[in-house]
Amino acid sequence: MPNNTIWRCIIATMRDVAERAGVSITSVSHFINNSRPISEPLKERIALAMAELDFHPNALARSLRLKQTKSVGIIVPDSSNPFFADVTRSIEKALFTHHYNVILGNSDGDLDRALLYLKVMTERQVDGLIFIDVGASGDVLNTALRSLNIPVILIDRIVPGVEVDYVTVTNTQGGFDATRHLISLGHRRIACLTGPQSLTASMERLTGYRQALKEANITPDENLIYTGNFQFESGYEGARQLLSRSPRPTAIFACNDLMAVGVMRAAAELGFAVPAELSVVGFDDIPLAKFSAPALTTIAQPTEQIGILTANRFLRRMQNQDLPPEQQILETELLIRQTTAPVPTKRG
Ligand code: RIB
Repeated sequence: MPNNTIWRCIIATMRDVAERAGVSITSVSHFINNSRPISEPLKERIALAMAELDFHPNALARSLRLKQTKSVGIIVPDSSNPFFADVTRSIEKALFTHHYNVILGNSDGDLDRALLYLKVMTERQVDGLIFIDVGASGDVLNTALRSLNIPVILIDRIVPGVEVDYVTVTNTQGGFDATRHLISLGHRRIACLTGPQSLTASMERLTGYRQALKEANITPDENLIYTGNFQFESGYEGARQLLSRSPRPTAIFACNDLMAVGVMRAAAELGFAVPAELSVVGFDDIPLAKFSAPALTTIAQPTEQIGILTANRFLRRMQNQDLPPEQQILETELLIRQTTAPVPTKRG
């Protein structure tokens, strides 16, 4: 028996399912592609026939026919960071209900790796891409995106000069609120531990920090600004350096929660009690923030909403690739927990 006949005997076809379920092949196709409403009884008969025949739709054949793979690439800077994990999970959850699946790429904060992932994902025939910048210039990213010819949504970090859909948050306001909260507690020697200077999210938060100091007539001390990289270790190292300044800061605003946790580790090793002798504020509100001891005061990002808006924008873009680019900016929120307190009466 020739191979293809054997295969035909082994692999049930849509025709077999239709005959088994007593429906048309068209109904089976609409059921598989979710391309037209089908009554519940018919859905049950088709699903039962597919299970009994062990039928699995041929994804490759379907994608060639529909010119869609129903897959989306998401490229994040650090898949181990809970902020990106939460956003990715929210996007995946929203797109899954529309029969899309997600292919995740981790650029590890490396621009060359991020650009390579853009290419690889396109070769994998994803229908669209969701991308978080890792410090690309507008020219570099525009060149890379133009060659893809598929919809791309940037989230979290704006790239000046790149006119695409964005979903981001009020980073400047978040940095302002974090710093103003510390000022309201009487702190004036407030340090800022930023993320990479190549990222707009970092620089916007630093801008908010400077605005709050200016509003309170506090002259910024450039020795109290330390450039980190959004990782635990840079928060730890940055805090050790900042706390060696004289007079030392009595408060540190870290531009993400991982660095804030590193700050608290360094404070503990150096013998500074948080918040009695050192106040700490983070940014993101990752799940760890409320379970750290003491629980971290931080600027919350609405990760669930970021994911939903990103997924919805992607679906609208898939319906109409001629839509003008849209920038959606969600609000951050100051969550006061246990790592901030009035300025210490005596300098430690
Ligand atoms: O924690 C990672 C940081 O990088 C977050 O604040 C997020 O906004 C991203 O920019």
